[in-house]
Order: sequence, then structure tokens, then C-alpha cells
Amino acid sequence: MSEVSNETRFLHAIEIGLGAWQWGDRVTWGYGQTHTDKDIRETFDASLNLGVRFVDTAEIYGSGYSERLLGQFLKEVDQPVLVATKFFPWPWRLTKGFVPRALKGSLERLGIESVDLYQIHWASPIMSPETMMEGMVECVERGWTRTVGVSNFGQKHMLRAYSTLAQHGISLASNQVHYSLLNREVEKNGTIARCKELGIRVIAYSPLEMGLLTGKYTVDSPPSGLRGSQSIELLKKIPPVIKLLQEIGLNHGDKTISQVALNWLICKDTLPIPGAKNIKQAELNAGGAGWKLTEDEVAKLDEVTDSIREYKKD
Ligand SMILES: NC(=O)c1ccc[n+]([C@@H]2O[C@H](COP(=O)([O-])OP(=O)(O)OC[C@H]3O[C@@H](n4cnc5c(N)ncnc54)[C@H](OP(=O)(O)O)[C@@H]3O)[C@@H](O)[C@H]2O)c1
Repeated sequence: MSEVSNETRFLHAIEIGLGAWQWGDRVTWGYGQTHTDKDIRETFDASLNLGVRFVDTAEIYGSGYSERLLGQFLKEVDQPVLVATKFFPWPWRLTKGFVPRALKGSLERLGIESVDLYQIHWASPIMSPETMMEGMVECVERGWTRTVGVSNFGQKHMLRAYSTLAQHGISLASNQVHYSLLNREVEKNGTIARCKELGIRVIAYSPLEMGLLTGKYTVDSPPSGLRGSQSIELLKKIPPVIKLLQEIGLNHGDKTISQVALNWLICKDTLPIPGAKNIKQAELNAGGAGWKLTEDEVAKLDEVTDSIREYKKD
């Protein structure tokens, strides 16, 4: 593994974070129906009290409401909180100047002067990784972000972002990617290995496969709405995975299915950022960190999930 730079070292020390997509999102997550602002506040407080200090939001979550809520909470807590947010590459955002302008909007909603990590949410066919990173350089130079990350970047785009930043003496801090026991694409296509080689922190999103890795959903009782119809094929295949997660949990003082699933990601040297809708979920998820599966347990989980999907090369 290459040397991790001093300015990005803090990210490598974080074991688990909290995702904030659920904060204000009605379409996918049913905000207003399954959870309210009060639940979100309790989720945030419980996470903080259990040592979770890294929150991942984005300008598009709840059309800015997620950032606004986080900003409100930040004013009312004493503990330090590490804030990560994201730039969305809308097709009309053509030049590098859009990056600092969007960050300024995020900082206003968050009510803070700088974030700890500013990420590009997705690669874009319109704005090149070079242009995006030139915009990011401006954000760093203005002191508006401590570090720079990308998200959903395959290896080619990631390397272009890495090289552009390197020309300015800035390290690419992270790549936030979909990674869970039920989606190991980034492991199979070499993205994770390349990140390790370059000292880039892998942040694992949808670490519970949007709730499927909790054991509470089945083919007969899927999640509601779009999430349900998208998960039927996976739900048919996961009973052996859930059974093994349950068995392994018992070896570790009754850890839950979701806690074992999160710990597997920590054992893979990645930073999971589970989303939570209430205090109970937040408390359970925090308990996914602070302990370790054995190598043998990790290998068994690898084996049982190996053929859940077909994986292609990047
Ligand atoms: N960069 C990107 O493109 C991208 C994409 C997706 C997500 N993300 C980030 O990653 C974060 C996490 O991913 P995600 O929200 O998609 O999915 P996730 O963390 O895999 O799943 C979260 C959902 O699972 C259920 N859940 C969570 N903990 C639980 C527990 N302990 N027991 C029972 N149910 C539990 C809750 O939904 P129900 O109660 O409704 O089941 C919760 O909303 C997001 O919040 C966001 O910050 C980033």
C-alpha cells in the first residue's frame, strides 16, 4: 500500500460513519411517512453518543434539506463532527467554476465555513474528471474543503482525478462506491485494490444493501415501493447469506445480522456509512464497529456471497 498523505490520514482512522440520504428523501426512503425530523435528530444524537462522528450528505439529498438539517444539528452539539458532502454533475454544469459555486451553496446550507471532505457524486460524460478536479483545487485553495474525494468513479476516471490533483500537490482522499456483501463489484473489478495501492480511502455506500442485509426482508415481505421491486431477485438468493451472518453473530456475543455485515466491510479495510431512520437502527449500526470478525469468518462470508451476482471487469 502506498503512503497515506498527512491531510487524508484522518479518513483512514474512521471505522464507521452515518449516511444522510434518508434525511428529507421521500421518493426512495419515505421521509415524512417512516421517519420524521425528530427521528433523524435522535438518529444523529445516538450515533454521536456511540462515537460515530462522520456524516455523509449531498447537495441533492432531499434537495438540500439533508444539508440544512445537518447544519441545524451541528449548531447544537459540542462534539466535533466530520462532514462530507457532494457535488452533483448536472448537465448544465459545464465549467470548473461550478464546483466551488456548488460548494458555497452547501456551506451556506450547512452553516459552516468548510467541510472535511468534498466529493464528486458521479462521473459525467459532460464535465471531465480533469475539469472537476480543477474546480476542486479551487475549493481547497479557498479553504472550503479539507480534502477531495470522488464517488462512483471507475478506475480510469479515478486515476485521471488522482493525477490532476497530484499536479497541484493534493491527494485524492477517497472513492465512495457501492459495496456490500451483496454487491462486490468494486472488489472483483480491482477498484478496491487500486485504491489501496494509491492510499485512497474506500467509503462503502449502501453497506446494508438498502436494508436487505438486516434479515428483516424476504421475498414474501419485501421493502415497500421501488426498493421492493428492485430487490426481489436478490431476496430469492440471500437466505443462506442471512443464515451465515446470524451464525457468525452468535460467535461474537450476539451481534446482529446487520452488525456482522457492516463488520465484514470494516475487515475489508473500507469505511461503511449505513443510513438509519431511527434511534434503534443507529444504535445497532454503531455496534457494527469496535470489534473484528476472524479471517476464517470473512472467508466464509466471501464464499457464500461469491455467486450472488455475476461480476464483470472494470
Ligand atoms: N455516493 C452515492 O452515489 C450513494 C448512493 C447511495 C447511498 N449513499 C450514501 O450511503 C448511505 C448509506 O446507503 P443507503 O442509505 O443507500 O443504504 P444502507 O445503509 O445499506 O441501508 C439503509 C436502510 O436500511 C434500513 N436499516 C438501516 N439500519 C438498520 C438496522 N440496524 N436494522 C434494520 N434496518 C436498518 C433502513 O431502511 P428501512 O427501515 O426502510 O428498511 C435504512 O434507511 C446513504 O445514506 C448515503 O449517505 C451514497
